Amino acid sequence: MEIPENIWQQAQKLRETIERHNYYYYVLDEPIVLDAEFDQLFLELQQLEQHYPELITPESPTQRVGGAPLKEFSQVVHRTPMLSLSNAFEGAEVVSFDRRVCQGLEVGGIEYAVEPKFDGLAVSLCYENGLLVTGATRGDGFTGEDVTLNLRTIKSIPLHFPDGLKGATSLEVRGEVVMLKADFERLNQCQRDRGEKEFMNPRNAAAGSLRQLDPAITASRRLTFFAYGVGTYAGSDVPCNKHSQMMDHLASLHFMVAKERRVVSGAAGLMAYYHEIGTIRERLPYDIDGVVYKVNDLAEQERLGSVSRAPRFALAHKFPAQEAVTELLGINVQVGRTGALTPVARLEPVLVGGVTVTNATLHNEDEIGRKDVMIGDHVVVRRAGDVIPEVVAVVMQRRPSTARNFIMPDHCPVCGARAVRLPGEAATRCTGGLFCPAQRKQALLHFVSRRAMDIEGLGDKLVEQLVDHAIVKTPADIYKLDMTLLSSLDRMAKKSADNVVKAIEKSKDTTLARFIYALGIRNVGETTAKELAYYFGNLEQLMTADEEHLRQVPDIGPVVAQSIINFFSEMHNREVIEKLRATGVHWQEGVSTKRTKTIGGRVSDKTFVLTGALPSLSREEIKERIELAGGKVTGSVSKKTDYVIAGDGPGSKYDKAIELGITILDEARLLQLLQDSGAP
Ligand code: IVH
Repeated sequence: MEIPENIWQQAQKLRETIERHNYYYYVLDEPIVLDAEFDQLFLELQQLEQHYPELITPESPTQRVGGAPLKEFSQVVHRTPMLSLSNAFEGAEVVSFDRRVCQGLEVGGIEYAVEPKFDGLAVSLCYENGLLVTGATRGDGFTGEDVTLNLRTIKSIPLHFPDGLKGATSLEVRGEVVMLKADFERLNQCQRDRGEKEFMNPRNAAAGSLRQLDPAITASRRLTFFAYGVGTYAGSDVPCNKHSQMMDHLASLHFMVAKERRVVSGAAGLMAYYHEIGTIRERLPYDIDGVVYKVNDLAEQERLGSVSRAPRFALAHKFPAQEAVTELLGINVQVGRTGALTPVARLEPVLVGGVTVTNATLHNEDEIGRKDVMIGDHVVVRRAGDVIPEVVAVVMQRRPSTARNFIMPDHCPVCGARAVRLPGEAATRCTGGLFCPAQRKQALLHFVSRRAMDIEGLGDKLVEQLVDHAIVKTPADIYKLDMTLLSSLDRMAKKSADNVVKAIEKSKDTTLARFIYALGIRNVGETTAKELAYYFGNLEQLMTADEEHLRQVPDIGPVVAQSIINFFSEMHNREVIEKLRATGVHWQEGVSTKRTKTIGGRVSDKTFVLTGALPSLSREEIKERIELAGGKVTGSVSKKTDYVIAGDGPGSKYDKAIELGITILDEARLLQLLQDSGAP
């Protein structure tokens, strides 16, 4: 069938738009259209291609998943071998590396390109004349597995370069396939919901997802590719003479490269970078296991060459491992503030991430079952940042014949009350309520914690004594503590007792948000407490609110609303609140600070459409501000649209706005408009 010229153009335009959106969404992490809009464009292209199959080209975004599952992967010989890196663990090794480089090059003050060491799976992507032809795993460094079909499903991998690759006919891009932490959490949540085995860590999940014979499975797992180098670059002169420039070049070809890459000088620069990344490691969206240093000058890299499969010009400086294997000696059960019984693994002490770990959480009964944990097993323990260490998996090969099952107790190990597991809940809970000393202690510790009433010096040892001696039963009793009583306790010097009394007194002057949070209402965390305080302005209003009223508060759904109602309908809780106020706990009683919607002015009742990425505000922020000023944000441009807000890389909505003669504003002009309308 002869394809009309305008259809070619239409398909081409759709592809370019879809690719641009993919790039903004997956590579830049700044989506510029709504999902529904994207899906619509994708569907249009699919329908067009269905109608005119000749339109289909391998680089079309519709062709990322296709074909039947493979029987096995074929082998690919890497054009340039994929070397590994020499490792360093200590600063002294970094200093020797820099010294060796200086000696090798006979210069000092070497410039290094430095970047995070991604903890994923190394792959090599071969592009011929600007088109992705093969993608392979590292394998033994010389030969890897052909995983092209799977790699094509990864949206951060360009299937082709926008205008071919000026000059180069052959380009091998090296990098790492990872699973972002957020995608890993989502995947494991999904596995849990389906009662399937969870993945141990993002690297295992990435490897398991990439080495799938059925590309449809890979496509269903969100993977990300980060480029960190180039293998062969043939057919034209290399457009750069520094590694850092090569990374910029790859970024311009729409590859994702580490945002945290830098250029530093000498061993001191390397060490400073190591520490810098060490402090932000937890906040990175992906797992890393160290940093990589590379001599920046490509000619100098060449001069240094390699030894035994590792280049002399590069070094991996590793962070302490976040996982370790150790023996599970036993399982204790702890009782939390809400009565939840948490099984805690007692471990043979082991060093994880530079800290000795002796206990790790096993979360709940289902988790133990899913991970098939038995006492006596060797288990993998993971500790990341501030997170409580957890048992992530069992080393099955090492299970001893003496391993035994753990049985969740049916009575609270602290107060002896019945422990029950309600349908639909993962936790088994002690039914003792605040009569259970464990729950009481936790509730009190929560009440005095920094973000709640902030009573410094009332730590767990002291709370334990106060509860065990029945001196403190409810939070209100804390305000009865005095010097005489406190200094009569074990290990309580006069000075500390004095400090505690002062801290108690000081805590009386608080805020409504802190007070609500301190009450420890189930499902009411710090943010919700703030929202409630902001919305109701005073406690009486909150205490008497019904579900409908509570659900007016941002982010409060039926479950949280019910928790709040349950809490305040307990006579006991009302009494404690009454007593607390009687002892002098107070806050600024405000009028309701309910967010008001009607402001009038030039924004009120106007309809806005957003397109493109704005320089400083996110979509959510803009939407919120417009709505606060009484305006409305919609998804598509029509005659009813009053304003189109356009940022970088606007889509078809921009064209439509011009076509319909609608006023187009940039961010600055929008902000001006909002201000003129008297918006907050
Ligand atoms: S450069 C010639 N840069 O680490 C050296 N490797 O231990 C090529 N890796 O298998 C590697 N992040 O997959 C380099 N920013 C980075 C890296 C990185 C992770 C992996 C790589 C390799 C392993 C070597």
